[in-house]
Amino acid sequence: MKIAVIGGGYVGLVTGACLANFGHGVTIVEGDPTRYAMLASGKIPIHEPGLEELVALQCEKRLLSFAPDLRGALEGVDAVFLAVGTPSRRGDGHADLTYIFAAVRQVAAALTAPAVLVTKSTVPVGTGRRIANLMQELRPDLAIDVASNPEFLREGKALLDFMRPDRIVVGCAGGHARALLEAIYAPLTARGAKLLVTGIETAELIKYAANSFLAMKISFINEMADICERVAADVADLVQGLGLDSRIGAQFLQPGPGFGGSCFPKDTEALARIAQDAGAPSRLVESTIAANSARKAGLGARINQACGGSVAGLKIAVLGLTFKPDTDDLRDSPALPVMHRMVEDGATVHAYDPQGMEQARLYFDDNVSFHDSAKAALLGADVAIIMTEWAEFQRLSARDMHQWMRGHCIIDMRNVFEPSAFQAEGFSVTGIGRPWSAIQARPLAEIRSTRETGSQRS
Ligand code: UGA
Repeated sequence: MKIAVIGGGYVGLVTGACLANFGHGVTIVEGDPTRYAMLASGKIPIHEPGLEELVALQCEKRLLSFAPDLRGALEGVDAVFLAVGTPSRRGDGHADLTYIFAAVRQVAAALTAPAVLVTKSTVPVGTGRRIANLMQELRPDLAIDVASNPEFLREGKALLDFMRPDRIVVGCAGGHARALLEAIYAPLTARGAKLLVTGIETAELIKYAANSFLAMKISFINEMADICERVAADVADLVQGLGLDSRIGAQFLQPGPGFGGSCFPKDTEALARIAQDAGAPSRLVESTIAANSARKAGLGARINQACGGSVAGLKIAVLGLTFKPDTDDLRDSPALPVMHRMVEDGATVHAYDPQGMEQARLYFDDNVSFHDSAKAALLGADVAIIMTEWAEFQRLSARDMHQWMRGHCIIDMRNVFEPSAFQAEGFSVTGIGRPWSAIQARPLAEIRSTRETGSQRS
């Protein structure tokens, strides 16, 4: 099978590399000259475990290649996958389809023979139909079937999600498009992956519904965590109690600082708009958006409170800047408003992230100090805030942190630490939804006095 993927971003790269891994011949078309130059020279501009190696291997096998434009790239293709960005349109939450329709027009102009046009990008319900109409209008001479094949890739686990999917969703009008996509994904269905065929609109909606449902689960457990803090219950046990019910499931029930990333915030907004426009507003999705915004907005107050009322004058180490581990992506990361607020409130902020430092520097002037290790950020700090659950933070020992830090206040937004070990070293640990969250907050005077007596052990 010969395939072109339009867009060498996150989804396009993962899709292209994995389809090549099935044995298909894939060309990824990347129109941005800088990005194309990087890709063509073997550099992968994003951090995704295993992707660089897979791309290199498939390029070596000559199953994968990159092109700066469509010239030649569509020669003899069976399918063209659209994997361009659909950011939130400024102001109204709708997905911005500028890149999608620009790509459709270019494909229409370049195709010389019939092919199936497959949308991988997350697009509002009805877009597939609009693409089909536009294609028909631009190329009445060619039989071009249109299909929707939404992606369910988690950053950090994208290759696994592609290669071992819970399901593959194909939205199409049947016929050739269905047969072609079944053939493309045959290596996965042969191993037992489920391929669900629906209408185009349904496939488009499945994508938004899946992300919104997961986002809703997170907002639900965050609210439960708040209740736990007030009634001395433990959210970790609550999650177990819920998750063991197979109708509920334990996944996406980790409480934290609120969901971020390039998908949940954008897709919940888009679904809310789609629902409103369709005359069937989704109160649950709207509430999820509002609850998540309120959670992020409340993080500053939560931190000030855990520091006895004010962070002014404190040296704060922020560990973890990306919106989740195993990515370098900071889009909508809860760490960003936290750091801005800490600076505004008069704290000195020292930050470290295993992968996100380069991106993070773009968001701050010189009002935040960036360090190249957790230890360097923690040295002499009064307070440590864990914003992202990177595995290396889970390995930090209470004894080392006691040695490195000046104060003894930990605010663990991901419940990474086992509190008893830290409490034994004299730390106050404020977690999320744990019984000790509310009661362990240390008075500011105590944090300050530790600081003023300069008890940093090094
Ligand atoms: C999400 C979906 O999980 C993918 O299936 C989907 O394909 C992708 O969006 C997309 O639309 O492209 P992603 O944004 O990479 O993937 O990250 P998730 O692992 O879903 O996490 C999203 C946010 O929720 C993160 O901020 C994470 O920290 C938070 N989260 C997740 C929690 O707070 N608690 C949890 O239990 C799980």
